[in-house]
Amino acid sequence: MNIINLENITKIYQVGSEEVHALDGVSLKIDRNEYVAIMGPSGSGKSTLMNILGCLDTPTEGKYDLKGTDVSDMSDNALAEVRNREIGFVFQTFNLLPRATSFHNVELPLIYAGIPAARRHEMAEVALSSVGLKDRMLHKPSELSGGQRQRVAVARALVIGPSIILADEPTGNLDSKTGEDIMTLFHEIYEQGNTIILVTHEEYIANHAKRVIRLLDGKVESDKQVANHTVPARGK
Ligand SMILES: Nc1ncnc2c1ncn2[C@@H]1O[C@H](COP(=O)(O)OP(=O)(O)O)[C@@H](O)[C@H]1O
Ligand SMILES: [Mg+2]
Repeated sequence: MNIINLENITKIYQVGSEEVHALDGVSLKIDRNEYVAIMGPSGSGKSTLMNILGCLDTPTEGKYDLKGTDVSDMSDNALAEVRNREIGFVFQTFNLLPRATSFHNVELPLIYAGIPAARRHEMAEVALSSVGLKDRMLHKPSELSGGQRQRVAVARALVIGPSIILADEPTGNLDSKTGEDIMTLFHEIYEQGNTIILVTHEEYIANHAKRVIRLLDGKVESDKQVANHTVPARGK
């Protein structure tokens, strides 16, 4: 089943008297439990596409069907509701609350979702355990390594049980060894049946995905299955 169906999406930014065509007729279908990397040079429209996929923004024209619901014309409030329920975000810069513990950072989406405290605590603990941070629940971001911070961010993305994980350069601020650890984690999440879409400019990171979509000037330049995608070694 297509979880994502984009039909002829355009996004035009008006800058003064100039129109910037950030996306120019993008059509894509993505199935449940796909693992997709989006690549392309700077300015090719990757972040604009991720913002639309993540219901942070709406297209100028075209149709976006998410799990059978047309979200292309939704109001900001309706879009926010879909986003909180369906999308887990992971960012290059982690975007954690600096003064809050790992536990509280992961609990936050559950507070927004109105989940009662006891259930919330249980869910946050399960999510942090699943990324190997059960013993770092009361640490603040400044007391964690970069890789651990990104693990907290992954736990926060997963805790609500989203339909899609969107990651924009999730290894961009990590050294290559730590980046590989995060890619191992993404592989596990994918194997559990999740749908993952990540932006990267590193070929070796994209190679972990099963499908690579390349953008150029706001258009899909190529869309290919990865023949020999990297399967991380088990156990650490
Ligand atoms: N908020 C905005 N206002 C005006 N132009 C924008 C805005 N966001 C992106 N753009 C332009 O749209 C194009 C695509 O940008 P972006 O999606 O950020 O590309 P990428 O993530 O691939 O580097 C670029 O030419 C960029 O300058
Ligand atoms: Mg970008």
